[in-house]
Amino acid sequence: MPQFFSPSANTFARMSILAVVLLLSSVAGLSYLIVRSHYETMQNMPREQPVPFSHAHHVGGLGIDCRYCHTSVETSAFANIPPTKICMNCHSEMWATAPALEPVRESYRTGKSIEWTRVNDLPDFVYFNHSIHVAKGIGCTTCHGRIDKMNLTWQAQPLTMEWCLDCHRHPESYVRPRDEVFSMDYRVPANQVAFGSQLVKQYHIRSLTSCDTCHR
Ligand code: HEC
Ligand code: HEC
Ligand code: HEC
Ligand code: HEC
Ligand code: HEC
Repeated sequence: MPQFFSPSANTFARMSILAVVLLLSSVAGLSYLIVRSHYETMQNMPREQPVPFSHAHHVGGLGIDCRYCHTSVETSAFANIPPTKICMNCHSEMWATAPALEPVRESYRTGKSIEWTRVNDLPDFVYFNHSIHVAKGIGCTTCHGRIDKMNLTWQAQPLTMEWCLDCHRHPESYVRPRDEVFSMDYRVPANQVAFGSQLVKQYHIRSLTSCDTCHR
C-alpha cells in the first residue's frame, strides 16, 4: 500500500489540528473576556454621544478647567454635566455653523437638554459622593483616567465594590496633595506609601469600610 502521508506530513497534520483547537479555545476565552469586561462593565469602551464632545480638544487642547463645566464636583455628591448654555458661551461665536454642533444649537433654541449617555453609572443601591473625595485629595485621574486624552469619554476603572474597597482600606497608596486633585499629568511619587501616609494624617483620612458607608 502506498504511503499517503509521509511521517513529516503526519506531524504537520497533528500540529494543524492542535493549532485549530488552540485557536478555537482562545477565541472562546477571548469572547468570554470581552463579554465580562466590555459588555458587562463597558470599561474602556468609548461611548457614543448625541454630540461628539471631546475632552481631548476642550481640556487637553484648550486647557479648560474641569470646574468650568462640572461646577458642583467640589461641593456636592454629584458632578453636574454642563447645561447647553455653558457650551453656547463659546459656540454662539466659535464653530457657530458647524453641523456637528447642530444638536447643541437645537437644544439652546428649544430649551430641551441634550441627552448625554451616562459613562460611569453605579447601581442605585450604591451611594457615592464627589465632594468628599476631592476634599481628601483623591485625583480625578485616579478614578477617571486621562480624560484630557479622550475624544469620546469612556469608563477607565472597573467601579466594582472590590475596587472601591481597595482604596478605602489603603488610602495612603492613592492620596495626593489637594492642590493636585484636578491636575491631569500628576506623577505618583516613588515613595507614595510613605508620602501618602503623611497626607492621610494631615487630611485626617479615615478608612471607611463599613457597609453603610456606601449602602445606606
Ligand atoms: C467644556 C466643558 C467640559 C470640561 C471643561 C470638562 N468636561 Fe467632563 N464632560 C463634559 C460633557 C459635555 C460631558 C458629557 C459627555 C461625555 O460623557 O463625554 C462630560 C462627561 C465627563 C465624564 C463622564 C460622565 C459620566 O457620564 O460618567 C467625566 C468623568 C468627566 N466629564 C470628567 C471631566 C474632568 C476630570 C474634567 C477636567 C479635567 C472635565 N471633565 C472637563 C464637559 C466638560
Ligand atoms: C471655552 C470655549 C468652549 C466651550 C465652553 C465649549 N467649547 Fe466646544 N469647542 C471650542 C473650540 C475653540 C473648538 C475648536 C477646537 C479645535 O478644533 O481644537 C470646539 C470644538 C467643538 C466641537 C467640534 C469637534 C471638536 O471637538 O473639535 C464640538 C462638537 C464641541 N466643541 C462641543 C462642545 C460642547 C457640547 C460644549 C458644552 C458642553 C462645548 N463644546 C463647550 C470651544 C469651546
Ligand atoms: C473616588 C473615585 C472618583 C473620583 C476621585 C472622581 N470621580 Fe467622578 N465619578 C466617580 C463615580 C463612581 C461616578 C459614577 C457615580 C454614580 O453613578 O452615581 C462618577 C461620575 C462622574 C461624573 C458624572 C456625573 C455624576 O456625578 O455622576 C462626572 C462629570 C465626574 N464623575 C467628574 C469628576 C471630576 C471632574 C473629578 C475630579 C474633581 C472626579 N469625577 C473625581 C468616581 C470618581
Ligand atoms: C482612590 C481612593 C478611593 C476610591 C477608589 C474610592 N474612594 Fe470613597 N473615599 C476615599 C477617601 C479618601 C474618602 C474619605 C474618607 C474620610 O472621610 O476620611 C472616601 C469616602 C467615601 C464616602 C464617604 C462619604 C461621606 O459622606 O461620609 C463614600 C460614600 C465613598 N467614599 C464611596 C465610594 C464608592 C462607592 C467608591 C467606588 C465606586 C469609592 N468611594 C471609591 C477614597 C476612595
Ligand atoms: C466603599 C464602598 C462600599 C462599601 C464600603 C461596601 N460596598 Fe457593597 N457595593 C459597592 C459597589 C460600588 C457595588 C456595586 C458593584 C458593581 O456594580 O459591580 C456594591 C455591591 C454590593 C452588593 C451587590 C452584589 C454585588 O457584588 O454586586 C452587595 C450584596 C453588597 N455590595 C454588600 C455589601 C456589604 C455586606 C458590605 C459591608 C461588608 C458592603 N457591600 C460594603 C460599594 C461598597
